[in-house]
Amino acid sequence: MRNLRLLTFVTLAAASFLCNPAGAQSTADFRVLPYQMNPALDGMQLTWFTVANNPGTLTVTGPGLASPLVFASTPVLEPVLDYQINAELTAAGAFPFATTAIFEAPGVPARNWRHRVTVTGLQADTEYTYVVTQGASSYSNTFRTAPSTSTNRRLRFVAISDSETLVLGRTRFREWARTTPQTPNSTGRPAGNGRGRDQYFLSETAGYQENIKNIEARDADLLIFAGDLIEGTANECQRRWDEFWRHNAGEYDDLFSGLPFVAAIGNNCIYNGGAAITANPLVQYARQQWSAYFDYPANNDPLAKDLYYRTDYGPITILTLCSVGALGANDNVAPPQGQGTNVNFPDIRDTNRAWLLNYPFGDLPDFNVGTAQWNWAVQELAAARAAGQIIFVQWHHTPFSRGIHGSSVTSTQSGEAMRIYAPLMEQYRVAGVFCGHSEVAEMSYFDLDNDGYGVHLWDVGAAGDGLRGVEDAPGATTAAIANWRNNPLNPQGAAWNINPYHVWCADQSEPETWNGNQLVSGGKHYGFLEFDVERTSGGNFRITFQNWHTFPLNAGDANFTVTGYELRPYQNRVVLEGPANDLRPVPAALRVPFGAGCHGLSLASNAPRVGFDWRLTASGVDPVSPFGVFYFGGSRQDPAASLPSLGLAAPDCFLNVGTVFGLLSTSALSGSASVDVAVPNQTALLGLALVAQSLALSPANAAGVATSNGIDATVGR
Ligand SMILES: [Fe+2]
Repeated sequence: MRNLRLLTFVTLAAASFLCNPAGAQSTADFRVLPYQMNPALDGMQLTWFTVANNPGTLTVTGPGLASPLVFASTPVLEPVLDYQINAELTAAGAFPFATTAIFEAPGVPARNWRHRVTVTGLQADTEYTYVVTQGASSYSNTFRTAPSTSTNRRLRFVAISDSETLVLGRTRFREWARTTPQTPNSTGRPAGNGRGRDQYFLSETAGYQENIKNIEARDADLLIFAGDLIEGTANECQRRWDEFWRHNAGEYDDLFSGLPFVAAIGNNCIYNGGAAITANPLVQYARQQWSAYFDYPANNDPLAKDLYYRTDYGPITILTLCSVGALGANDNVAPPQGQGTNVNFPDIRDTNRAWLLNYPFGDLPDFNVGTAQWNWAVQELAAARAAGQIIFVQWHHTPFSRGIHGSSVTSTQSGEAMRIYAPLMEQYRVAGVFCGHSEVAEMSYFDLDNDGYGVHLWDVGAAGDGLRGVEDAPGATTAAIANWRNNPLNPQGAAWNINPYHVWCADQSEPETWNGNQLVSGGKHYGFLEFDVERTSGGNFRITFQNWHTFPLNAGDANFTVTGYELRPYQNRVVLEGPANDLRPVPAALRVPFGAGCHGLSLASNAPRVGFDWRLTASGVDPVSPFGVFYFGGSRQDPAASLPSLGLAAPDCFLNVGTVFGLLSTSALSGSASVDVAVPNQTALLGLALVAQSLALSPANAAGVATSNGIDATVGR
């Protein structure tokens, strides 16, 4: 989407917000670079901030414009974005740098002048170049107008949440739960504490930076941001938002200068310190900051503007809801902490019983049945369904999760109360729900009325903060869950399951492979969900969801040195097909490595999709072997058969394929051998199970062979 990155952004870079000592002047004209919201058929809204009260100029060029469109901006002061406490300006002792606050002149904290221009009169689904000039600074990028509902273009979306930016993230390496299982080949997560062991390889800041680079490279049309953009903390206040914009429209990167986004508010976005009722004025302040930055379409409650709203983009409708708290009679209604939903405690009406109590200001919406937000959601779901749209919904607090916020048993900020929306999601045939909050990168699938139509739910909370494990990992179930299972008040007893709808999560479904101090593959990392929407035939659509992770290539040394980054797919891939009001899962092409290889031989592949090549690559082929052999079956050999048990003197080697029904051989070059298996474009093949393994010659044993791990594959879309 963008072709000119940080053009003439020199003024800003030279001013270097980062590590500026207190009192140093920033001469930058931009405080926040232009960012995109509200893509329309005929235009786009651009917003930017300056530290001075000077009008800017926006110039748009592109198809159909005989001469550039030129707009002058009118600066509007946003006092709610001022620094609030002296500690923001000094940060004495808090960080290994003085402060990250931005100063207009020595001793003069910068203010926030907002510029907002809504460009209209353009062609639909067309890319335009824009330049914003402020004084001696100018910045250029591109935007694309929204497509019409009848577009045949394949549309791409990215969903993330829980970036939770804050200054502390520059030096904080988040806990990296040890709950992830290991592959048979793995030597195991190294013992001990610190980076690469029980803390992640990257600081939060570096992790989010690298994740953003990978998101940019996917060239999406729209980003869905399911809350917790900044982290709630009492002492960083406005500096958390400064940090957010450094990442997304500033010094670190400019993702949102080239990509429009729709954001849901999260608990961290409104938490500004304080406990219980004393937090309320700070919550109100943070809520006002939200609307100072974001200008989303109106809903049915002017006081709740920007917190729930509808976005239409081509044949897609996205409803954004606000789940941060319940009010009035619904406030603080939930089981006591440590106890879950059951017949004894049927009422769960609040997502936030930790500190948001008796909120008096009326500018946060309740979400419960019969509230303005609920009524609006029902109305918009019905309207979007009647209009033939594909519907997606986002809010922050995930209603089902194996992570910490999956239940009142484990959290006073559980998303359980949002389960009231689950039947609506099924009734209106919503194609996907995106949430965050639990931060385990999880997918669930619920069909509460058992009618065969269910809804996929993602916790996409892995943008740049926590890398949490599940609460019920085998052998590592938390005390809260164990206690509740043993609690006589719990009618389900030991059978109680924190998330019966769980399908996949990075923590449990992506085993790690370690080789000493080197993580070779797998595990939980910063990442995002991507989905593509395309028209097929007969008025139908196909939606392909893929979870991705930003893998830190690591040297395997004692310092767990990171040497680079690679965008890698997680195994979770979901494909829906059908009309907009009845999109159902079809077999998705999958490939899951399993079992162990021997003498360095390993097998990798893509996922076998109908109409495409299934490429299998054996690596680690010994130089004595002029070829690699690939053999196929329809099932795993489970347990794997040791080759000595089959009469071959190859200890440590295994047969991983059940009944072998096919064989291919290809020459090996530089230790690697590959074959491409053409998968016919036939729907009859969807769901076909295939298992593959490779073999090569080896001097390592008397039989003279090495075998690889297996690949368990499903033919699909
Ligand atoms: Fe959250």
